[in-house]
Amino acid sequence: MKHIVGILIVMLLLLNACSSSSGSNSEEERFVEALLGKMTLEEKIGQMNQRTGQWEMTGPAPKNNNSQQLLEDLKNGHVGSMLNVVGAEATRKAQQLVVDNSRLGIPLIFGYDVVHGHQTMFPIPLGEAASWDPELAMLSASVAAKEAAATGLQWTFAPMVDVGRDARWGRVMEGAGEDAYLGSAFAKARVEGFQGSDLSNENTIAACAKHFAGYAFSESGRDYNAVEIGGESLHNVVLPPFKAASDAGVATFMNSFNTIDGMPATASSYLQRTLLKGQWGFDGFVVSDWNSIGEMIQHGAAADLKEAALRAVKGGSDMDMEAHAYLAYLKELVESGEVDVKYIDDAVRRILRIKYRLGLFDDPYKYCNDEREKNNLLTDEHKEAARKVARESMVLLRNEKQILPIDEAVKSIAVIGPLADDKDSPLGNWRAQAISNSAVSLLEGVKSAVGTGIKVNYAKGCDLVTGDRTFGNILNFNNDDRSAFKEAVRAAKKSDVVLLAIGEDAYQSGEGRSQTDITLSGLQNELFEAIYKVNKNVVVVLMTGRPVVIPELAEKAPAILETWHAGSEAGNAIADVLFGKYNPSGKLPMTFPRNVGQVPIYYNHKNTGRPVGDDMGNLWSRYTDSPNTPLYPFGYGLSYTSFMYSNLHLDKNEISTGDEVKVMVTVTNSGKVKGKEVIQLYIRDEVATYARPVKELKGFKKVELAPGESKEVSFTLGKDELGYFHPNGAYVLESGKFKIMVGGNSIETIDTTFTMN
Ligand code: NOJ
Repeated sequence: MKHIVGILIVMLLLLNACSSSSGSNSEEERFVEALLGKMTLEEKIGQMNQRTGQWEMTGPAPKNNNSQQLLEDLKNGHVGSMLNVVGAEATRKAQQLVVDNSRLGIPLIFGYDVVHGHQTMFPIPLGEAASWDPELAMLSASVAAKEAAATGLQWTFAPMVDVGRDARWGRVMEGAGEDAYLGSAFAKARVEGFQGSDLSNENTIAACAKHFAGYAFSESGRDYNAVEIGGESLHNVVLPPFKAASDAGVATFMNSFNTIDGMPATASSYLQRTLLKGQWGFDGFVVSDWNSIGEMIQHGAAADLKEAALRAVKGGSDMDMEAHAYLAYLKELVESGEVDVKYIDDAVRRILRIKYRLGLFDDPYKYCNDEREKNNLLTDEHKEAARKVARESMVLLRNEKQILPIDEAVKSIAVIGPLADDKDSPLGNWRAQAISNSAVSLLEGVKSAVGTGIKVNYAKGCDLVTGDRTFGNILNFNNDDRSAFKEAVRAAKKSDVVLLAIGEDAYQSGEGRSQTDITLSGLQNELFEAIYKVNKNVVVVLMTGRPVVIPELAEKAPAILETWHAGSEAGNAIADVLFGKYNPSGKLPMTFPRNVGQVPIYYNHKNTGRPVGDDMGNLWSRYTDSPNTPLYPFGYGLSYTSFMYSNLHLDKNEISTGDEVKVMVTVTNSGKVKGKEVIQLYIRDEVATYARPVKELKGFKKVELAPGESKEVSFTLGKDELGYFHPNGAYVLESGKFKIMVGGNSIETIDTTFTMN
């Protein structure tokens, strides 16, 4: 074992977790302190109470849901925030109740799940991450913020920055995939997009990094399940995107439903006080997840709601979303001496601070503007942005014999599949105020791209889902009605090329949408077989909210384009790619498994003591019925051109601890058309005190190259990239040999090494 040369313990600035970091002399702090000084204990607790609007629920309805009581609470200043109240008029009315009636008139802050667009939908966040272009995420978040802010909102419960390795967990659609480095870049970009440089600007809103922490590691991919994670993964995999969001100045955090190694995240003072508000210097506030305070009772970590309130407030949860625990019990807990009032003051200070930054004390109604609401939603400019982000998010998984882009000689195209003319599923789940059925369908996109020169033969083939499709319902899949197969086969027979739109319904991924089986649901594989039998030129347009298991398609379909749930402009963006108006450049942010038994499968795994080599005997770390390798690896995606990597070199082959090394590589467009390539840099710390992954992403750049053009691309690796966290949270740089791998995906790379002394 090599010796540890440098220990950079991040606990340098262990600020008192109950103090502010923005300087007590600022005008903001003076304002906040003065207001705090005027507040009664009840008024303070009121600020820590968040209630939902009665007409939209994004969680199970609480037992004591009495609208008359809510009205009274609002008037008495017993509510500090509302969620699920949207629209200039609705927010104005609620705000007025508070401002006109409560003693101090402290404005409400209105929050909502604006996850990938407000009314103009962008691709689901997982899809957007496939662009590997954080600037696009910044763009989409800024458009979402502008639209949300025009409808009375000041706060989104996004970005979700949970690193997810388990495709069974439906919420992977909301994040940036399986990698902490890529996830951190997107966390930062999304925060900056929502918040801009000035929170008081009427086009920006406060962001919320969620779910703190570990939620995506829910055991067996089952939503809300317990999380057992261990310090090494917690610090190296789960926490970095949260730290990136905090460093980017995110205004709020949301904690998570799960227990983490037995401790409810909502009660974790290690996460919320020691790390977040202490070491990281976060000066915003933490909202609980929906009734996550109350759910501590079911976890078996609180005897009743009173004890849950006590544990949550001490743990650092500043605002209670829909558990109704703080309003009911904090006063008596403070009066009995069980909760020190300093916890209350700290929470309220944080909440008032964010309200101040949003400019709510200057004008509580500044976000309720009918004119802006009328003019700022679903504008042509926003749709154009959505189309751009969508086409850059698509990943070409397969393109045998260059069937794509569709050849000019093609005279007839069949557009088939349950999702082919679906104007709703492309909107994705967590769709905020999107208008149902408002997306451009694939069929519409194709028709407007081809004009009259090409015959388009449409046939649905089969339904994917029968019955209700809503946020709150479990879906029923069509497993037996094949009556529309015939017509689809006819359409395929008479066409040169088939575009087969299959995948997942929008409501198949998202909260509460865990699946044990992530193959294509219903009759979709059968439909593919029936079509393929009569026409081999099948281009699968795959619309999903997660990686799916598609062995048959991967073997037979000549082309597969993963489009995700691509948003309002889905059909147009897909057509841009299919017809070569845009050369696909997306790369997978999450591994596609061969079968569900491999899950969780991710590129940056540990080597084990028995890695599979050439010797494929029994006693190796392998399955007896499947290869270890994925179907499509992290970072993978094809283009209509090809790229060559050469001349990988370093500016030095030895560095001292703490120094930097520069990595240079030449990338050449060796094909016939212009294209963008995402150049990925991975490292392997070959020997360490705690075993390191076989590779870790530590840099990426997207470049555009003309045919035949070469560019030298460089990366710098320094202490932020070359160290890692020990399980106790200490950041450590260890000497030794590092392998450098550069390429267009996580498997096909060219390599070199250097040593850190
Ligand atoms: C529960 C979800 O876990 C969270 O992400 C969301 O923001 C809240 N509900 C509010 O809708």
